Amino acid sequence: MATHVHSQPRYTKRLMIRPFKRRDVAAMHEAVKASIDDLQPWLPWAEGYDRGVAQRFIRESVGAWSEGRAFDFTIRAIDDPNRHIGNVSVWPTSQQNSIGEVGYWIRSDETGKGFGAEATTRAMQIGFEELDLHKVQLRIAVGNVASDRIAEKLGFVMEGTLRDEVRIGARWLDHTVWSMLEREWWTQRDRHRAEGTIS
Ligand SMILES: CC(C)(COP(=O)(O)OP(=O)(O)OC[C@H]1O[C@@H](n2cnc3c(N)ncnc32)[C@H](O)[C@@H]1OP(=O)(O)O)[C@@H](O)C(=O)NCCC(=O)NCCS
Repeated sequence: MATHVHSQPRYTKRLMIRPFKRRDVAAMHEAVKASIDDLQPWLPWAEGYDRGVAQRFIRESVGAWSEGRAFDFTIRAIDDPNRHIGNVSVWPTSQQNSIGEVGYWIRSDETGKGFGAEATTRAMQIGFEELDLHKVQLRIAVGNVASDRIAEKLGFVMEGTLRDEVRIGARWLDHTVWSMLEREWWTQRDRHRAEGTIS
């Protein structure tokens, strides 16, 4: 598998995804603050989120990208590129077995428009076509039905459940693990192209 990807923006029908720049702190912080009630139940990093956390995330993200540890993208609408819509990431978890993982969130006032699925489709394309992954995984907390729906829409297969995988405050959450194999991606990719989501 490849260990690095280029840092130019990628496009979908409606979205641009690009690596973070230091100047994105304020836009991302604003988006998280405006979405905190929907993020906190599922994502441990949302607890105690402030500008300092946003700053550290972006600093870490720039470093992780240059070292090939993770590729985090800010999601922007092509027709409103200054507004942070959410994050999507793809990162290798096993070089030996060419396995990676994807993750995402969408700001609350932009959900329900298909942006989560659209941005994640593009991140999957990076995983399979730029990083040459054999398998891409996705972990979803049990009960997160909107995220389950993204996995289903994208054609992921559920592999099983990990018990007490993440602690959110005093609560332990089980996670389901979903995956797509490279040979399955090529079928999905033809569908996404036919629908015009990606080129
Ligand atoms: C999960 C999340 C990314 C979805 O983003 P989105 O842009 O709304 O996603 P999409 O519009 O592509 O798809 C969401 C799907 O879930 C469905 N959905 C949303 N809420 C639902 C609910 N309560 N019950 C059933 N389906 C639901 C939508 O109808 C849509 O399906 P459809 O296209 O078949 O109508 C967003 O809500 C989010 O960021 N949540 C908080 C953080 C998070 O959970 N991140 C993922 C961690 S694995």
